[in-house]
Amino acid sequence: MSNLDVLFTIPIKLAELFEKNGPDHHEYDFILKIIDQISADEIEEFRAVMQPILNPGTIIGFSFTKPFGYNGDFFIIEKIYQRYVSPDVRYKKWDEFFHHFPAAIAVVNRKKLAIEILSNLHQNNNSNNTDVLILGSGPVTEVYEFHTENPHNHLVFDLVDLDKRAIAYAKAKNKNFLSGMSFHNVNVIRHVPEKSYDLIWSAGLFDYFRDKHFVYLLKKYYEYVKPGGEMIIGNFNVENPSRRIMEILGDWFLNHRSEDELMRFALQAGISKDDIEVIREPLGINLFLKVRKQ
Ligand SMILES: C[S@@+](CC[C@H](N)C(=O)[O-])C[C@H]1O[C@@H](n2cnc3c(N)ncnc32)[C@H](O)[C@@H]1O
Repeated sequence: MSNLDVLFTIPIKLAELFEKNGPDHHEYDFILKIIDQISADEIEEFRAVMQPILNPGTIIGFSFTKPFGYNGDFFIIEKIYQRYVSPDVRYKKWDEFFHHFPAAIAVVNRKKLAIEILSNLHQNNNSNNTDVLILGSGPVTEVYEFHTENPHNHLVFDLVDLDKRAIAYAKAKNKNFLSGMSFHNVNVIRHVPEKSYDLIWSAGLFDYFRDKHFVYLLKKYYEYVKPGGEMIIGNFNVENPSRRIMEILGDWFLNHRSEDELMRFALQAGISKDDIEVIREPLGINLFLKVRKQ
């Protein structure tokens, strides 16, 4: 009996899940476990069964259908940050289930980490202009929340994003704080910074790059870190318990990386071992390569 057969014969049948408009909390772990066991040749069949929710009405269906043309757009990230739940009764429980995924919690955690790092930079740096560059800036929610918590700060932000819809959204969201923010609608591969930075931050971007591009961009942007400054790059850990559900239901594929791989990339970029560290958010699902410049 295949895992898919098991799914149809065990007490919580998928048809029943749809009849009651999605899973309840006590069924979450069980469904995740079943999805983890689906083999490659069962994926399409499983997706066909899940078709009623694989549309932009649910967060997971939004990922699957990619209305913006790619995975990890600013809008889905903002839905995760805001713990958005559809008001449509057919989708509400599925969105609640989505926010229970450890990977979704890790994404919220990484925003909290970014705000903490920005707050520390603000508190520990007395200079008038403390420069921050954010690569793949998306909804710019961490900067919005940082500004809201620290209205009298002296951080100056450059924000780079390839998607002009992300930039339009971020500008509208941060409309009260735009005096310290410059937006650049350009690919990070092509962007040429005009100054150096106390902090270069990037989360949710390098996981989409192949190893050689990761190293290339790390090396390129490390040149723009001020002496005493640092660059921090987020990447999903190889240990991601939500990987299968993201791939199978969200059609969301990332380059997961281990702490050792991230350290190796930094060494390949020519950064000295003493200046390399890997930190993590509380779940350890998002790792962050942190490189300092002496
Ligand atoms: C997953 S989102 C992360 C957003 C934000 N860093 C965060 O953590 O909330 C990735 C963002 O990177 C942008 N992006 C993807 N590839 C890019 C590239 N090559 N150059 C610049 N931006 C890119 C996307 O448009 C998207 O807004």
